[in-house]
Amino acid sequence: MTQYVINGRKPLSGKVRVGGAKNAILPALAAVLLTEKPVVLHDCPRLLDVEKTIMILKTIGCSVKRESRDLIIDPSNINSWIIPDSYVREIRSSIIFLGSMLARMGRAQITYPGGCEIGQRPIDLHLKGLKQLGVVIDESNGYLKCEASKLEGATIHLDYPSVGATENIMLAAVKAKGRTVIYNAAKEPEIVDLQNFINAMGGNIRGAGTNTVVIEGERKLDEVEYTVIPDRIVAGTYMVAAAITAGDVFIENVIPEHLQAIIYKLREAGCIVEVHGLNVRVKGKYRLRAVEHTKTLPYPGFPTDMQAQFTSLLSVARGTSIISETIFENRYRHVPELVRMGANIRVDGQTAIIHGVRSLKGTRVTAKDLRGGAALVLAGLRAEGQTIVENKSYIERGYENLEGALSSLGADIVKLS
Ligand code: UD1
Repeated sequence: MTQYVINGRKPLSGKVRVGGAKNAILPALAAVLLTEKPVVLHDCPRLLDVEKTIMILKTIGCSVKRESRDLIIDPSNINSWIIPDSYVREIRSSIIFLGSMLARMGRAQITYPGGCEIGQRPIDLHLKGLKQLGVVIDESNGYLKCEASKLEGATIHLDYPSVGATENIMLAAVKAKGRTVIYNAAKEPEIVDLQNFINAMGGNIRGAGTNTVVIEGERKLDEVEYTVIPDRIVAGTYMVAAAITAGDVFIENVIPEHLQAIIYKLREAGCIVEVHGLNVRVKGKYRLRAVEHTKTLPYPGFPTDMQAQFTSLLSVARGTSIISETIFENRYRHVPELVRMGANIRVDGQTAIIHGVRSLKGTRVTAKDLRGGAALVLAGLRAEGQTIVENKSYIERGYENLEGALSSLGADIVKLS
């Protein structure tokens, strides 16, 4: 069993640097198929999800070399439009390849991605948008067989500002005839980064970051070197690590604007958060205070990907906090584990009621998903005694060398594989 072993109660201090954002790298790796020229992506951490997406690119004929934190990709010899089933099972976001494969080859095949750890995660909005661009989709025997003899620009209203659906439609629309307009598009920073990446290759997209994205089609894209945005969720996780251990941590390479909702909540809980250019400093306190009702929402609202980490933090704050998870239906699987550590949390539907306790006790707990797993590590940093977090591979999907980074800040954490 792969696990982290943590001896808690060490206040963290020092500096830590945040790398490129997983959720920006994955769509950028899909967007690579839009060009036949070489692409260099800088500052890509070794995350399990990134490495698996690289395997998809290799399987369909791309050459991908890693030089330290840079990926050098040659997409000139793509020879397949089929994403093997095993990858789709392992990395659900491989659905993002539909848009760029259709743009490049006019066809794409993928198994129907099922639910995942955090919920059902339907893909109806992706498929509806692609159909509006002229894609014919045959859904049979668990497969999605997509064909587009011609992609045509369209006006698309998303019923919900889905991040993945917005990205998939953007990718396909780059090669469609004419203009595509996406209304009620997702506004996440990763959408803006995808726009910037495609435009750096010669695309013409505008509006990302607002709820209307306009893509001018039939663009021929060229070679590019690009640095993706820093990971706001990794940054947020380190910020909570500082807060929950009553530490003092300087987090380098962040875009503070992307962290507004997190900074606001940390200050509300009583942390000192200072912004220094592209860095933030977080000073925690042993007993923070409960915060007003926190609802996860699409950006710029409080991110669902930080809900679990804040549940750990608020579990040791003074008073009662309420969190409502509005994005995913099954995202409280860390709560029973936190309760095993002594937290007092009750989940009622999509709402968690957290009565803060003075201390948590180390015990053996199990990560059930990526961010919930990170939340258990954070709880372990705070707990008395030893915490063992099983299933660390979930956490490695989105955190590079987490034990190394936390150890360098003074935590007592080792990984056993
Ligand atoms: C992305 C992020 C994920 C983050 C999420 C919300 C990546 C690789 N992952 O996931 O870390 O938690 O945004 O910020 O970038 N929905 C539908 N139909 C669809 C698509 C989505 O009903 O066709 C629903 C989902 O079930 C969910 C909500 O919309 O309830 C938001 O999902 P979406 O924004 O699409 O998230 P992802 O792109 O999957």
